[in-house]
Amino acid sequence: MSKLVRMAVIGAGARGRGYAKFALAFPDRLKIVAVADPDDFRRNRMAKEHGIPEESCFRSWQEFCSHPKMCDVVAICTQDSMHEAPAIACAKLKYHILLEKPMAPTAQACRNITAAVKEAGVMFVVCHVLRYTQYTKMLRQIIQSGEIGKIVSIQHLEPVGYWHQAHSFVRGNWRNEAQSSNMLLAKCCHDLDWLRFIMAQPCKSVHSFGTLFHFKASEKPAGAADRCIDCPREIESSCPYSAYKIYFRDRFCKGGKLWPVDVLTPEVTAENLSEALRKGPYGRCVYACDNDVVDNQVVNMVFENGATASMTMTAFNPHSGRLTRIFGTLGYIDTDSSVIRVTKFLDDSVRTIDTKVANDGGILSGHGGGDFGLMDAFVRALAENDPSQILSGVDETLESHLMVFAAEESRKKGSVENL
Ligand SMILES: NC(=O)c1ccc[n+]([C@@H]2O[C@H](COP(=O)([O-])OP(=O)(O)OC[C@H]3O[C@@H](n4cnc5c(N)ncnc54)[C@H](O)[C@@H]3O)[C@@H](O)[C@H]2O)c1
Repeated sequence: MSKLVRMAVIGAGARGRGYAKFALAFPDRLKIVAVADPDDFRRNRMAKEHGIPEESCFRSWQEFCSHPKMCDVVAICTQDSMHEAPAIACAKLKYHILLEKPMAPTAQACRNITAAVKEAGVMFVVCHVLRYTQYTKMLRQIIQSGEIGKIVSIQHLEPVGYWHQAHSFVRGNWRNEAQSSNMLLAKCCHDLDWLRFIMAQPCKSVHSFGTLFHFKASEKPAGAADRCIDCPREIESSCPYSAYKIYFRDRFCKGGKLWPVDVLTPEVTAENLSEALRKGPYGRCVYACDNDVVDNQVVNMVFENGATASMTMTAFNPHSGRLTRIFGTLGYIDTDSSVIRVTKFLDDSVRTIDTKVANDGGILSGHGGGDFGLMDAFVRALAENDPSQILSGVDETLESHLMVFAAEESRKKGSVENL
């Protein structure tokens, strides 16, 4: 590797800190040299973890961008609605850019980012981490080998999981479309992007249905309180979505202090957690929140060669890896994002490939190794000045985001949308 890449992190929250861990694991390849975040705790934490000097710690991306260019690349890990402005400002300053998904909440904003990145001629990656997992790499190799013939159809399930839905999409940051983005964009832009990647075909038309079926006031049990901590014991103890159950009984009491518990309070103690449940957004009853994003959605797609795909996103299952079935002209694959089973029609043989990545809680295992795969590819692309290492660049990402916007339009209008 020819050079040490120097990176600034904009938004030192869960994701920004996660990507920065690459620098701790591979200090000869990446160094975090600046941080921008208005949150004192998070900014200081990152400065301490990476030895960033005081003069390179900024209170916002605006303050960071008011200085001349100070390193090679920026990681923009702010919330969804705060991607467009820093991405355009950083492109103008000629920073290479790692941008968290979704690119931005509207098609126009995505196009604006695309135009700015192209005009600046900088390298750009969107964190579609699923493209970079060992599992996806192996799956693509099997498909490209011709073993299952041509793909005719794919059935894909994104099992968000009951507690993950409650945490992120009912109580948490992505609960309300006006404040962040719709559910498809927030959660399933990965899935539509991945389906497009596996199909290796542009998508022609999409169609979608989806509803907020359960997490609404009409489903609230009689007598339940607006906060789990105030709920009558017999109601709280029979509710799988109880915040007390999710954060305390199922996690903290068993030693669990990482995500999602650390989202409630930066320092996870019994006292801080109780305070968060008493006063913060994560202590609210799931039937008494200001959420409006769907809890179940289906998307049907037809691709340019006539192959079809369907995707289901649902909250109502255990939290697990995505489940996919791929129907080919010569064979069939079923997989759980880790183990791939290939059945060949010629002799009905079944082959099993295990691509499991040990979960060590670090950069190497996040998103099934996708966080590492993405950072590895991007840092290599920068060090070797070789953009071909990037699998989720601006064109691919814009295309799959447009699929998402079209599907959401279809859900709202009841139409079939052509791309
Ligand atoms: N790739 C994935 O699989 C994946 C997974 C989860 C989340 N995400 C996306 O990553 C992004 C970040 O999510 P997160 O969970 O890390 O959020 P977070 O809330 O933990 O972090 C965002 C940080 O941005 C900071 N911030 C706010 N205003 C700022 C400003 N003006 N300048 C600089 N920083 C500012 C906040 O203080 C916060 O620390 C979101 O867009 C989210 O949708 C991607």
